[in-house]
Amino acid sequence: MNIILLGPPGAGKGTQANLLVEHHGMKQLSTGDMLRAAVKAQTPVGLKAKAIMDAGELVSDEIVSALIDAELVAMDDGTGAIFDGYPRTAPQAHALDDILARHDRTLDHVIELEVDEDALVERICGRYTCANCGEGYHQQFKQPKVAGVCDKCGSTEFKHRPDDNEETVRKRMEEYRAKTAPILPIYEERGIVSRVDGMAPIDEVTKAIDKVLASG
Ligand code: AP5
Ligand code: ZN
Repeated sequence: MNIILLGPPGAGKGTQANLLVEHHGMKQLSTGDMLRAAVKAQTPVGLKAKAIMDAGELVSDEIVSALIDAELVAMDDGTGAIFDGYPRTAPQAHALDDILARHDRTLDHVIELEVDEDALVERICGRYTCANCGEGYHQQFKQPKVAGVCDKCGSTEFKHRPDDNEETVRKRMEEYRAKTAPILPIYEERGIVSRVDGMAPIDEVTKAIDKVLASG
């Protein structure tokens, strides 16, 4: 099964993708994570992407589609893919069709996480991740069980994304409204869009997504 998780910054795409990986053995393909890894490693892609990401703008369609294609080459065992943060523009949506066809895959579901944008700023500005294993947390909504210690790996170091400040978040939302939301009709025409209330508690969102996946 191959699915797209769609929603503005902070909608919970990464949170739900991680849970799908845990519960269903699927693989998360997050272009945001791939780009952050490239920035950290100072690869040519990372050097190009850094300023764009820090400004909350979109990296070029060619770069992100090439990243996705390369990941799928390495997934020839048929493991289900969760596209998280991709596609984000009409050219990316068309590129994904071509890429999936080349890898003999079909798109089963597009799940749109519906959220209230003002609440998202609070969500994003309060989030942080484990510096060692990348597990995501939130100052209010998801704290480690033992304060200051990662549940997954025991590390006591955490980090905050440089693009998680209010100004950049507003820019990222603008980009979402202008370039990403307009791709939904492409998938609506195919009858594969499901809407899930992304404002519900995390485990309820997971249950709603599981229901969509169980529907075939
Ligand atoms: P990317 O990394 O994709 O960021 P984003 O889309 O802005 O999404 P986020 O990661 O901010 O949010 P999320 O929906 O995953 O929410 P999360 O689960 O973390 O992209 C970053 C940048 O990279 C872009 O701006 C762009 O420059 C570039 N880029 C990436 N892909 C690109 C592409 N395809 N094309 C061009 N450029 C690209 O949740 C947020 C917080 O809320 C967490 O703390 C979580 O614990 C909490 N939370 C989650 N769900 C709930 C809930 N139900 N209730 C309460 N709290 C919750
Ligand atoms: Zn950790």
